[in-house]
Amino acid sequence: MTVRICPSILSADFANFESELATISDSDLIHVDVMDNHFVPNLTFGLATVERLQQLSAKPLDVHLMIEDVDRWAEKYAELGVFSVTFHAEATDNPRLLAQKLRERGSRAGLALKPNTPVEKYADVFASFDQVLIMTVEPGFGGQSLIEHTLDKVAQARAVIDSNDLTTWLQVDGGIDMSNIARAAEAGADTFVAGSAIFKHVDRNAQIALMRAAASGS
Ligand code: DX5
Ligand code: ZN
Repeated sequence: MTVRICPSILSADFANFESELATISDSDLIHVDVMDNHFVPNLTFGLATVERLQQLSAKPLDVHLMIEDVDRWAEKYAELGVFSVTFHAEATDNPRLLAQKLRERGSRAGLALKPNTPVEKYADVFASFDQVLIMTVEPGFGGQSLIEHTLDKVAQARAVIDSNDLTTWLQVDGGIDMSNIARAAEAGADTFVAGSAIFKHVDRNAQIALMRAAASGS
């Protein structure tokens, strides 16, 4: 299984994104957390900042929208040319339609589920998505501890993907570190977001390599 490591710039220095991006050059994707202080009790940045990140980043952007009004905003992120736009299932009545709109604008479409949102509720729309994100913490803040029961959801999501012969990537986000990344991979994740576990180190590319090796089982 191909392993992808996605450092979350939520843990970066917000006043120095250009130099921070240079320290994570061995990443596969750059995870970009957009928060609106409504869907989650925290605020980061919006479209203008992501537009500038898209100009600066040598690596594809994996945008994670933790915002309420995805039907209004998600397509605008896709139009920036980012690689992937992931929105929360809890934030729209018609996830399948929004996925289609994102794909029409050239972006991959991702569906995120909060820790208490059941996989079964959305299993029938997985085929419309390029990526499913199982949140392994309550969204909103970096530096939290992984909620163990969410790994059962990762296994459930993997079963849905494999039993339907889907190519959908399975992403985990929140509290992923060297102590649990191998277990997340064993549960079926192939795409790993990590903020504090990477940015707290001076040599971030070395940490990316260690996490990649652990997730690959080597
Ligand atoms: C949390 C964000 C995550 C966050 C992860 O709501 O979606 O992407 O940056 O940070 P860590 O890896 O520190 O838990
Ligand atoms: Zn995220």
